Amino acid sequence: MRKLRIALVGVLAAGALYPIGPSTASAGPAQAPAPAPQALGGPAAHGPGGTSTDLPLRVLARKHGLGIGTAVDMAALEADTEYRELAAREFSAVTAENVMKWAELEPTRGEYNWGPADELVEFARRNGQKVHGHTLLWHSQLPAWLTDGVADGSIDSAELRDIVRNHITTVVKRYRGKVRAWDVVNEAFTDGNFPVLRDTIFHQLLGPDYIAYALRLAHAADPKAKLFLNDYAIDNINPKSTAYYELAKQLRKQRVPMHGMGFQGHLDLQYPLPIDAPQNLARFDKLGLETAFTEVDVRFFLPIDTYKEAGQVGSFNTLLTACLLTPRCVMFTVWGFTDKYSWVPGFFDGQGAATPLDENFQPKAAYRGLQQTLAVASDPNSRRGF
Ligand code: XIL
Repeated sequence: MRKLRIALVGVLAAGALYPIGPSTASAGPAQAPAPAPQALGGPAAHGPGGTSTDLPLRVLARKHGLGIGTAVDMAALEADTEYRELAAREFSAVTAENVMKWAELEPTRGEYNWGPADELVEFARRNGQKVHGHTLLWHSQLPAWLTDGVADGSIDSAELRDIVRNHITTVVKRYRGKVRAWDVVNEAFTDGNFPVLRDTIFHQLLGPDYIAYALRLAHAADPKAKLFLNDYAIDNINPKSTAYYELAKQLRKQRVPMHGMGFQGHLDLQYPLPIDAPQNLARFDKLGLETAFTEVDVRFFLPIDTYKEAGQVGSFNTLLTACLLTPRCVMFTVWGFTDKYSWVPGFFDGQGAATPLDENFQPKAAYRGLQQTLAVASDPNSRRGF
């Protein structure tokens, strides 16, 4: 009962940021005017009774100490005013969708292209947002000079060790104090029932300790940054998430600086809902790690129907609820907030509509669901991350 009251007070307090009901001073019509069409996170959609859940996600998440993030497409951020305004208004965290990946940052060996990444960091500063750094080591989106060099033998183990040290040190130092957390290694394990460390150039040439090596380098470059491992298909308890759990336990025991586990949360309605995500996150939490959903979207085969819409609402909320139930779950980030720029149609044939806003930036049921969960949840966990 007490918790419920606290939750309601939170909603009322948030609602009070905006005027509710017609002013008594003005001679307005006796009947309240019809609500404006579907305002987003604005004052127009107050329900009967004067309370509102229709506030920006970042406002609703504040009482939970939870960061609400989005991946940012830098081309869209530059070209599209509406995109820019919503990215600022709705989110308290940003992740570079591409511009902090190795191929983008160091397209030529030793020559860095900082422009777009710097712009994102500056955008975040102006808007009071934290930056989640993505990503230092990943098998994908590597520069050709690196993969070709390994393939033709001109880069050997000793040299790759140096290259990795230079890259991680240079990137992490540049953004020291500006990037809250780094995905140090992304997608390190294979899928299936018997996951093993993925056969990447890093694993091939440096051996399984490349993960500890990378974490130590990042820690030396910015001792305050939170260092994450990050992967997909680990939202529920399964062999792959268990492989991460065992690795995390081992790294913690060896005092390797790993501070967080990132769960990408790329869901697909054709697969089972990860309803045991709370239990999964709890075991990482008990190791003393931060947790975060880092790339949430919910795809399905088009066209949408009412079943799929309901499935999408439930899927987003399952992950958000899991986060709220986990004391050190510090961030819930969506991989794009509008279908206008989502990566999904380009990567998964016939699938789409995976984000909370449609192509015209109109809120979908999934967005309303996130708002309502944030508004109603009474959260016993006091987070410090955001
Ligand atoms: C994706 C981007 O969204 C695309 O724009 C890009 O072409 C490929 O990468 N897991 C990750 C992200 O960790 O970096 C990926 O992002 C999506 C899957």
